[in-house]
Amino acid sequence: MTDPRNYAHEQRDTFRRQLFDLIRIPSISTDSAHAGEVRRAAEWIAGEMTRIGAEHVAVMPTAGHPVVYGDWLKAGPAAPTVLVYGHYDVQPASKNDGWATEPFEPTEIDGFIYARGSSDDKGQLFVHIKALESFLATRGAAPVNLKFLFEGEEEIGSKNLLPFLKANKDLLRSDVCVISDTGMRDIHQPTLTYALRGLTYMQIDVTGPSKDLHSGGYGGMVHNPALALAQIIAKLHNPDNSIAVPGFYDAVLPLSDEERAELAKQDIAEATLKAETDVPAAWGEAGYTLRERIGARPTMEINGLLSGWTGEGSKTVLPAKAMAKVSCRLVANQNPYRIYELVRDYVYSIAPPTVNVVVSLLNMGDPAIIDIHSSYVQAAVSAYERGWGAAPNYAREGGSIPVVADFKRELGIDSVMLGFGLNTDGAHGPNERFSVEMFHKGIDTAICFYEDLRK
Ligand code: BES
Ligand code: MN
Ligand code: MN
Repeated sequence: MTDPRNYAHEQRDTFRRQLFDLIRIPSISTDSAHAGEVRRAAEWIAGEMTRIGAEHVAVMPTAGHPVVYGDWLKAGPAAPTVLVYGHYDVQPASKNDGWATEPFEPTEIDGFIYARGSSDDKGQLFVHIKALESFLATRGAAPVNLKFLFEGEEEIGSKNLLPFLKANKDLLRSDVCVISDTGMRDIHQPTLTYALRGLTYMQIDVTGPSKDLHSGGYGGMVHNPALALAQIIAKLHNPDNSIAVPGFYDAVLPLSDEERAELAKQDIAEATLKAETDVPAAWGEAGYTLRERIGARPTMEINGLLSGWTGEGSKTVLPAKAMAKVSCRLVANQNPYRIYELVRDYVYSIAPPTVNVVVSLLNMGDPAIIDIHSSYVQAAVSAYERGWGAAPNYAREGGSIPVVADFKRELGIDSVMLGFGLNTDGAHGPNERFSVEMFHKGIDTAICFYEDLRK
């Protein structure tokens, strides 16, 4: 037996069973009560990498959840070295969020694996471990040198990965990074993501009276913080749904005609959006297509609102405080901290003097854009053609993987986004799932990618 792809096909059921074991570990990074489970997932991956023949496998500490490292470097100095990045942490999930099955008990229904982390990102990172296994088990060698880096804090902003990169530059030195943590719209039309958005996450706190007041006794004399917050929020966007913060768009790279033409080929039909989400109509910035709005334009969202009486029935109260979580998705070349300053200063400039307003910064991530003409991206194109069975199109994605910019800055390498998920996998929501067929096609494609990088 010498063909890695044949081996991967014969091992299908075993590979899937192993993935299920990883998924069963509830490695929820945001919940400190789950820190032990996060560590258990790291150790599980380290054990699996050792078992398949990876070397220098280690669960390495950070100030937060650990990083899993392992490598296979025997392809020789002429072969490229590929850094494989993924994240083994997951978003929270509990049955009563609307799950039809237990979120941490992977359940296969009609060709999909339902479980938290099945698609984002355990299923996708596992593809690469299985690709290396397929090479080592058949040929005893892979066509490229591989360094695996799996982190446990991606879903909470990768705060401790940057210091880890800075402290381990020699260990991580590579020619290119590959990340399987993005999606495509259709299994028959793979997508090569070449741009990811950045993020500036903020909180606006509005306070008024020192305690909740009787709305009959004070309403009309005291500015209600919930109303003041709503008035501020209402001024964040213009009537055409663009963002009203002065200077917000200054650093945005304009879209070339060529890029707009390419993005137009994969525009999203309003009917598709409605079917996916059940919204009555599309929304967004005038003058841009839906695809451009999600990938090439920055946005500002209200992620959460809290104020006043929200229990059953009514309570005539004038709340003492109101809070909003506000985040901006950013595109190249916006700077996340500069955006925070602009939003903060704008909010202060429109804040009414009748309440106290504080804008604080919670989280940041840089946007990223990759040159699609590089030989590495072209190797991915040919890998999709051979392994997936279709040529990919190029897309800008709306989500964020802030380490892509960190890899470029700290290690000087580009990342190839070799995604194997579907946009309809339901990442972060209830009933997250991963297509069985895409898991196995992903392994084929990763095998082809390593081969094509060697050419
Ligand atoms: N896999 C996603 C990123 C993603 C989503 C890329 C959709 C492309 C399309 C990743 O796990 C994620 O959820 N990232 C967070 C980052 C944030 C916590 C800084 C995100 O985008 O919200
Ligand atoms: Mn992810
Ligand atoms: Mn995610």
